[in-house]
Amino acid sequence: MTGTPAAASAVSAASATETPAAASAHDPIGHLSPTMLEGHVAFITGGGSGINLGIARAFARCGASIAICGRTEERLATAAEELRGMGAKVAYKAADVRDPEALQASVDHAVSELGDISITVAGAAGNFFAKAEEMSSNAFRTVIDIDLMGAYHAARATFPSLQRTRGSILFISASQAFKATKYQAHVGAAKAGIEMLMKDLAVEWGEHGIRSNSLVPGPVAGTEGMARLAGPTGDDMWKRAVPLGRYAETEEIGAMAAVLSGPLSAYVTGSQYIVDGGLGLVGSGHISDAVEQSLFSEG
Ligand code: HXC
Repeated sequence: MTGTPAAASAVSAASATETPAAASAHDPIGHLSPTMLEGHVAFITGGGSGINLGIARAFARCGASIAICGRTEERLATAAEELRGMGAKVAYKAADVRDPEALQASVDHAVSELGDISITVAGAAGNFFAKAEEMSSNAFRTVIDIDLMGAYHAARATFPSLQRTRGSILFISASQAFKATKYQAHVGAAKAGIEMLMKDLAVEWGEHGIRSNSLVPGPVAGTEGMARLAGPTGDDMWKRAVPLGRYAETEEIGAMAAVLSGPLSAYVTGSQYIVDGGLGLVGSGHISDAVEQSLFSEG
């Protein structure tokens, strides 16, 4: 997809309709060209909500067609309506990323509706706090299955398309991949696996022109993930833990995803992009203590 006329117009500080001044500080998408992803088809797992819907919105604002996949049909329908309202061509078919045949059917539907996929976003994830010695084998496996196996299934199912389009895969990771965190053994194992999968595919699929990168968000406002994770502890503790002192807006994650998935990053592969307000740099003790206090203390 790089080298097309659409790609040539990608490097633009602002569009004719949206000036840099109009783009708010936490809405960097307005600084990107609205044609940056024109001609691209993105397939996004977990795209019906949260960070992944934020990524879908960013791609839509940059001119891409969008296919979203998730477990809940109604949620996908609502998201699709919103994305269509933004002018994007949209397809969706519900699938659980743990089920490779269902995911393949969702990918096939997307290709038949929108054409070959040029951007895959492996974003579906599951998370909960649990003590390593107490959670069941199935609990640990569930997160590995959704996050790591789901990411692999998405990469494999979209490979033929990506090979034809010389496309890009973006894995949505988390700082638990590289920062030891109490009560997140299952998540750390899954996300660390995703980081290595990302690098292995960059090496193995580079000959097909396929790029593979990861994006590491920190806490993001208004997402189901943060509702689940901050539910027991409160938002303030998380905000204090982040060096920038606030949650990210979904637009901030979406903008980075658009940059990494499009022509601006044509020579970027095998890289991890940390968009977490600095959370990955500080220890996890603050969060562990708060979780312990609210979920696991005896008294
Ligand atoms: C211990 C738990 C548990 C908990 C579930 N389980 N919740 N064990 N503590 N709090 C166990 C169950 O008992 C079961 O094991 C197994 O996990 C599977 O649970 P199910 O509910 O049957 O699975 P399912 O319906 O598939 O739900 C998956 C889920 C759920 C991961 C458990 O939370 C979910 O659907 N999450 C999706 C959304 C989400 O979590 N998004 C957050 C992403 S945030 P047994 O042995 O009883 O069968 C993120 C990183 C953010 O990824 C980083 C921010 C810094």
